[in-house]
Amino acid sequence: MTSLERLKAFAADKLERLETTGQRRSLVETAREAGGRADRAGRRVISFCDNDYLSLSHDARVTEAAAEAARDFGAGSGGSRLITGNHPLNSVLEARLAALKGTEGARVFGSGFLANLGTIPALVGKGDTIVMDELAHACMHAGARLSGAEVRLFAHNQVQDAANQVRSASGQVLLLTETVFSMDGDVAPLAELGALAEEAGAWLMTDDAHGFGVVHPENPAQIQMGTLSKAVGGYGGYVCGPAELMDLLNSRARSLVYTTGLPPAVLAAAIAALDVIAAEPERRERALANAALFCELMELPAPTSVIVPIIIGPEAEAMRISAELLARGYLVTAIRPPTVPAGTARLRVTFATGHEEGDIHAFAGALREIMEPACAAIS
Ligand SMILES: Cc1ncc(COP(=O)(O)O)c(C=O)c1O
Repeated sequence: MTSLERLKAFAADKLERLETTGQRRSLVETAREAGGRADRAGRRVISFCDNDYLSLSHDARVTEAAAEAARDFGAGSGGSRLITGNHPLNSVLEARLAALKGTEGARVFGSGFLANLGTIPALVGKGDTIVMDELAHACMHAGARLSGAEVRLFAHNQVQDAANQVRSASGQVLLLTETVFSMDGDVAPLAELGALAEEAGAWLMTDDAHGFGVVHPENPAQIQMGTLSKAVGGYGGYVCGPAELMDLLNSRARSLVYTTGLPPAVLAAAIAALDVIAAEPERRERALANAALFCELMELPAPTSVIVPIIIGPEAEAMRISAELLARGYLVTAIRPPTVPAGTARLRVTFATGHEEGDIHAFAGALREIMEPACAAIS
């Protein structure tokens, strides 16, 4: 067998195993439009599963800012931020983010994933301890593992469990959690975790990917990361915190040092989106109202964010409901293990500013029909 043949056989074997455990994933072409609409492999759909919560990805002020920056400054940044890729728009965006978060500084990364991957290992290493919520996002887990620190998980949102783990930990302790959880939409007990960190001399770092621009709980974390790819409607990640830490990241965050800076168009889009978010608070109110209307129609508890999980349990049933929704023109992909814990396959339904009230009524009606009689179980 040649090396190429062995590689092909290796991948085919892995794929077969993924297929048998129901974990094989595939990519579906999706061209998104304004108002939550999309073309999904040739089918017209209304999406209730994307993260463009404030419908800013298609806002003309944002897309124009990106187009103008591309024309003026080029399509790419041309290098790492430490070489030639640090376009002045980075500083403009960082000043805006730091002001919003109330921190001394901010550092923009290529994505939220890269922000966590670079920042966590810059804070702790061998001999230290990371205590993180068991449901924290895959990129926090990846950053934690990369750091070489001992990683301990605490039961989701259970401060007492976190406290027990922190008190018996060695070295510097880093507490990690999301603010609004990506797959459940619930909010972390930030005040209690902040008090725990203070009492134990630990640092609290939060991932605000799904809160930023939509839900803003008081956040005592010393280190606050997030993404520009969800409510901000574009791409990129950031970390906010004290000035000294921002300087340290320039030297120690490998996902900042050894990767290309964001294109100026992406930075300009984020700055324009932040302007819109500041000027139009009704955008977040509309998105939250849409989520609340859906929960009312489905007889679900009132939501705490624009993410409403409908836990189905068996993967096959989640897939069936998702497929039937698609057939009726609604896009809600089924979220399956390992993205969520075993036995909790779900529909992760999300709401945005651009959804019309009529869309929500029609969608909830379709979902109720498809889910009967399971509907009784969730209400
Ligand atoms: C909680 C959380 N953190 C980080 C990320 C990664 O952000 P990005 O998409 O900007 O890489 C995501 C996105 O999937 C997320 O849900």
